[in-house]
Amino acid sequence: MCGIVGYIGNRSCIDIIYKGLQRLEYRGYDSAGIAVLKNNEISMVKSEGKLAKLEASLSKLPQDASRGIGHTRWATHGIPDTINAHPHVDGSVALVHNGIIENYLELKSQLQKEGVKFVSQTDTEVALQMFIKLYKQHKDPSKTIFALVKVLKGAFSLGILLADHPDELFVVKYGSPLVIGRGQGENFFASDAMALVGHTSKFCFLNDKEIARITPNEIEIWNFAGESLPLQFTEVNISSASTEKQGFRHYMLKEIHEQPRVMSSMIKRFVNADAGTLNIADMGLDKLDLKRINNIHMVACGTAYYSAVAAKYMIEPAAGIPVNVELASEFRYRSPWLNRDSLVIAVSQSGETADTLACVKHAKDAGAQIFSICNVQMSSIPRASHATLYMEAGPEIGVASTKAFTGMLLAHYLVGLAMGVRRNRVSSDELKRALNDLRNLPALVEHAVDSKADVEKVCAKYYESTNFIYMGRGTSFPIALEGALKLKEISYIHAEGYAGGELKHGPIALIDRHMPVVALCPRDNQYEKMVSNIEEVKARQGRVIAVGAADDEALKVIGHDYLVFPEIANPALQAIISVVPLQLLSYYIAVMRGTDVDQPRNLAKSVTVE
Ligand code: F6R
Repeated sequence: MCGIVGYIGNRSCIDIIYKGLQRLEYRGYDSAGIAVLKNNEISMVKSEGKLAKLEASLSKLPQDASRGIGHTRWATHGIPDTINAHPHVDGSVALVHNGIIENYLELKSQLQKEGVKFVSQTDTEVALQMFIKLYKQHKDPSKTIFALVKVLKGAFSLGILLADHPDELFVVKYGSPLVIGRGQGENFFASDAMALVGHTSKFCFLNDKEIARITPNEIEIWNFAGESLPLQFTEVNISSASTEKQGFRHYMLKEIHEQPRVMSSMIKRFVNADAGTLNIADMGLDKLDLKRINNIHMVACGTAYYSAVAAKYMIEPAAGIPVNVELASEFRYRSPWLNRDSLVIAVSQSGETADTLACVKHAKDAGAQIFSICNVQMSSIPRASHATLYMEAGPEIGVASTKAFTGMLLAHYLVGLAMGVRRNRVSSDELKRALNDLRNLPALVEHAVDSKADVEKVCAKYYESTNFIYMGRGTSFPIALEGALKLKEISYIHAEGYAGGELKHGPIALIDRHMPVVALCPRDNQYEKMVSNIEEVKARQGRVIAVGAADDEALKVIGHDYLVFPEIANPALQAIISVVPLQLLSYYIAVMRGTDVDQPRNLAKSVTVE
């Protein structure tokens, strides 16, 4: 939430910062701003709304300025207008912030008593004014920052530009992500390495409670206690093509199409098809003591959480260990029962979600082993875990998660099997059969994507509906939850997912002739139950969109409309395939309603505040 970027070197910085912000816009798009330094003077442009609105004002900045900081905002404190936009500047200091200063009211009233006048409603301006006050006492920027971090509470990654220190930028990392990129005669910082694609592949990922001083040729890091720390750089190569739309109208559609490729590359990395074995070491699992585990907790948020709901159906029976699946925001505050025999699996595309990260830290302190399933390399959750399985799905830029979700489901399937193998619960024959099922998975997912024209036709009938219900049983239940979330996020239609069996326990009261009900019906062991649920909906005049196999003639005539998915007699893999028509359903409905598919209102992709 909120993206920050900074540059210091000998090139004009405006374009570098603007393009960096474009790559960070997934973190928030309520307002944007850039401040640059030239001849010991700070110039700034800001605008409310998306970054593109800022572009027209860039010409007002001194074009050859070679130091600057920028920000794209997801509003927490104060409405998304120009005044509340970052950078916040007062005289010779400009500051950008990602996070929340939790004690800002107390600090603000203290500063107001001392005569400071505030112009914005933000918590960030309090950090700026506190910096200015302390700077007057300490005179030196780094000493000022050491004092500043003692008074701020909450989460704060800061970038600071000082007119009287033109050859230095200062950054602080606490709670929200921050990375420094090293160039030649130039250096950068950003909330995410992706912002710096094309400029460097050498990154120093700061840890919490670290401060850095960045000049064109030097980088120095200290901890909050003022001790100097060694610099550690990691090579991360992100291709710029992977961050582009490549001819698709939206990133979301591009990412839906990338799913077969994600599936096949994960299978290639983790499965030794000829030998019929799993590359368990490559999955990160060899770093864990799997024999010791007797309880598993899966923690995640949003779409990642729904993937974990599906994981329970895959990991618990294969590993023979009870799996508790929990929202990270609840788990972190409820004193869960954890000990050294617990395994906590944190699932997160970004690897930065604040609640999930907090669970990881809490569980680690309690002695549990931590395994994470993530997409973004070197993000905070993998760095805090004992072992990580990286999906390597490539950058997911559409705010609504698609390829990361199917990547997570496949990871859960493989992790369940690997645990079963290590714990001698899955025989080599069973493993061979389970891996054999994977052979056709990428092609089946591709087939599901190819049905998009049929899905689009159905969308034309329903895009004006104001409510939707999704239902499924077994591994289709989490897919119903995910289908409903996708629709809510990008089309702003109210939608809820239910287990088919739950409908009569309340939600059926909502059914009337205006209610579309999306019913997932693979021919599994609960198929007949689903058919009964559909009949119950129809008896109350609900509009049924059944989702099933192409040759399921019986199902076709029960529903009012029909969406097809390729069928596979493996419930875990069926879930991966079944979600595709639901992704397409939400996508085309959103397009027909004219919403902003890739950047839906009020959302941000990486939720780094609570
Ligand atoms: C939904 C979506 C969010 C994320 C959630 C967790 O489409 O993208 O619900 O799934 O914010 O994010 P990660 O996976 O980055 O922890």
